[in-house]
Amino acid sequence: MRNPRNFAKPLAIGAPEPWNDIPVRPGRMIHFFDPSNERMAVKVPDIAKKVDILLGNLEDAIEVKNKQAAREGFCRIASENDFGQTQLWTRVNSLDSPWFLDDVTTILGAAGDKLDVIMVPKVEGPWDIHFVDQLLAQLEAKHQLKKPILIHAILETALGVANVEEIASASPRMQGLSLGPADLAASRRMKTTRVGGGHPGYLVREDPNPSDENAPRAKAQQDLWHYTLARMVDACVSAGILPFYGPFGDIGDSIACEDQFRNAFLLGCVGAWSLHPKQIDIARNVFSPPVDEVKWAMRVIEEMGDGSGTVMIDGKMQDDATVKQCRVMVGLAGLIAERDPEMKDAYGL
Ligand code: GLV
Ligand code: MG
Repeated sequence: MRNPRNFAKPLAIGAPEPWNDIPVRPGRMIHFFDPSNERMAVKVPDIAKKVDILLGNLEDAIEVKNKQAAREGFCRIASENDFGQTQLWTRVNSLDSPWFLDDVTTILGAAGDKLDVIMVPKVEGPWDIHFVDQLLAQLEAKHQLKKPILIHAILETALGVANVEEIASASPRMQGLSLGPADLAASRRMKTTRVGGGHPGYLVREDPNPSDENAPRAKAQQDLWHYTLARMVDACVSAGILPFYGPFGDIGDSIACEDQFRNAFLLGCVGAWSLHPKQIDIARNVFSPPVDEVKWAMRVIEEMGDGSGTVMIDGKMQDDATVKQCRVMVGLAGLIAERDPEMKDAYGL
């Protein structure tokens, strides 16, 4: 356990001071692209304008023969473009892979001043974060970077879930966590081959009809990810970092994607991954709080005055706790309004 007085001090001489509070900007979608793919690379400047976070993926989904091209492509794209308010992230290969070390050393050297966050896959415990933390500090010092690079970990192993609280609070660099349902399913030996979403076999069924045992019985699919997501949200919020849902692999099924994203939004997540341009608008729509709810929340805040006592609004009791719920909604709307003029108008902010 590190001395709490040293927790927010740089881990290498010459590295920048870590953030005390992580910078909070809208992160409704983390849009993945393959930097080794030239056709995708030319679209990056346009896509960057439509997303909150743009992520160059070096890990899974990049063929072994393209790993180096992806790393180099990312460095080139980072240095050739100005991303404005859009955050630039990369997902590096896992810590035990033959690529991780070169991913981090090359990218920090060539594009460290452009990079906001490194996404680290398959994190199993705080020891993984401590290793990356120290390495980043060394590289920041070497390349004289002014702004500390943050770490986003993917929760995608059973051991990672067992250690999620310690991972979330392992370093002041921790920016957030994403759920990785595909690797997590494999690690846990879950019997689903889908990337996120429900499964028709995971359900609850209505009791039999006592007077007709052959009568059809209603059934409903349950959310396979509820427990992990809820646990991840608590771990993140208690450590002052941000929870994200991860990927939804059935690109053709926009409805189920929207449902999965909305479940995550309602449980407290701030965003999700978009693996295809189609999913950008789904995430934008879901992770921007609904206009009618924001307007309602503004009304509650207004009528509650200093926030104490109770008032009845349209038959609904309001008190200290509900006004806090409403401030969450209005606070998020305000953050999004700064980035998204269309939403700003819709909220009337
Ligand atoms: C994402 O990386 C996943 O494994 O779902
Ligand atoms: Mg994965």
